[in-house]
Amino acid sequence: MRVCVIGTGYVGLVTGACLAHIGHDVICVDNNEEKVKIMKAGQSPIFEPGLSEIMQDAIQNGKIKFTTDLAAGVKHGDILFIAVGTPPLPTGESDTRYVEAVAKEIGTNLNGDGYKVIVNKSTVPIGSGDWVRMIVLDGVAEDQKNLVPAGGAPSGDELSKYSAAFDVVSNPEFLREGSAVYDTFNPDRIVLGGNNPKAIAMMKELYDPIVERQHAEDKSQPPVPVLVTDLSSAEMIKYAANAFLATKISFINEVANICDRVGADVTQVAKGIGLDSRIGNKFLNAGIGWGGSCFPKDVSALIHTADDYGYEAQLLKSAVSVNERQRLIALEKLQQVLKILKGKTVGLLGLTFKPDTDDLRDAPALNLIEQLNRLGAKVKAYDPIISQTGMRHGLSGVVVETDAERLADGCDALVVVTEWEQFQTLDYGKMAQLMDHPVVIDGRNFLNPETMVRFGFQYVGVGR
Ligand SMILES: NC(=O)c1ccc[n+]([C@@H]2O[C@H](COP(=O)([O-])OP(=O)(O)OC[C@H]3O[C@@H](n4cnc5c(N)ncnc54)[C@H](O)[C@@H]3O)[C@@H](O)[C@H]2O)c1
Repeated sequence: MRVCVIGTGYVGLVTGACLAHIGHDVICVDNNEEKVKIMKAGQSPIFEPGLSEIMQDAIQNGKIKFTTDLAAGVKHGDILFIAVGTPPLPTGESDTRYVEAVAKEIGTNLNGDGYKVIVNKSTVPIGSGDWVRMIVLDGVAEDQKNLVPAGGAPSGDELSKYSAAFDVVSNPEFLREGSAVYDTFNPDRIVLGGNNPKAIAMMKELYDPIVERQHAEDKSQPPVPVLVTDLSSAEMIKYAANAFLATKISFINEVANICDRVGADVTQVAKGIGLDSRIGNKFLNAGIGWGGSCFPKDVSALIHTADDYGYEAQLLKSAVSVNERQRLIALEKLQQVLKILKGKTVGLLGLTFKPDTDDLRDAPALNLIEQLNRLGAKVKAYDPIISQTGMRHGLSGVVVETDAERLADGCDALVVVTEWEQFQTLDYGKMAQLMDHPVVIDGRNFLNPETMVRFGFQYVGVGR
């Protein structure tokens, strides 16, 4: 099928490359010329395991093209994905101005090229499906308006009269940064929200190879469940999923804080409750709180939507406040061990909000750097990706070292901020010797306490 993906960030580029990989003809559009230049050269502007490889294959097979020309993308695609960012506004609402700009431009470029499905892949507030339809219609040129049917695309022969007919479908994205390509080929479910069976049928055809697990790691699994809903329910599913996961982490963090006080070990508690199939063992790792580009903004946006409709989302507000407090837990633990932080040197192991990504958006490390600076501590950091890229130059208040031993040199304490797999096998014996005080605050409960003590460290975990 012919596909256009508008916005080539973590979601758009992965979606475009994966759809090209399974045989569709994809044009990816971005208004960032620099990014487009990089992608045209077969390189991924983001770090995501496996992405460059499938991009390069798709380029070689002529299945994917990159451009800044949105008009060309709209002309090409029967299915047009909107995958631009929806960052948070200071009020907690989502900033939908990029979606609005793209929807309008799609409208301007609907020139009788046949029926199109416009897909909201960006996480957008509930009600955005109808809103996008309205904005697209606003953009349609006066002399093209008679090509767009009023009140949604008709089915059957009627449709052929309207060569600029379109429908909006909500197709929320659930990929995790760091395993985005894997998640796209091995999804737990595909959610399609829309009113017109024709649009839903096209979306099902698009995803069929994925639904049939032709590119899955385990091809013997039953087909991927496809849930078809109305527009608002699909939009709500995305927010509810992220709000649930964020709340689950805040829950275990609260349990960890109680464990710290009563002398229980939260890692054992998590194992004990996680074996209950009603609870499940995922998202039960206590630590320094959730961050990243999605959880904080999506939970805030849902709270805000509830507020708009006269409902106070108390549980979600508590999940947020537990998280805000949790993000300072490493600081508290540093103060307990080192007392005065002024004049001390603290080394952060990891900067990104989770491993296997280069994404620093709303990363707990940034909070920690700011607070440590405020208290007069010197902050150094080592991150397997950030240390090797130009991204380190954009950071202030922190010296980014190129390896873990340089990080340890002269430190009064280390803090594990991101659970990069590489951090399991560092030469901690040597690092302890290089430090002024061999203290490690394990903000992710990632290291083995006994091993760290054997290496000469004072080990402090979260709730253990
Ligand atoms: N990052 C994730 O893990 C994730 C997961 C699920 C859902 N989402 C949602 O998907 C959406 C995209 O997120 P992301 O992390 O990929 O964002 P991003 O910021 O990484 O990428 C957005 C891209 O859109 C481009 N863009 C902006 N305006 C444009 C325009 N007018 N025309 C063309 N391109 C334009 C930007 O240049 C950028 O490359 C958001 O709504 C987000 O909430 C993200």
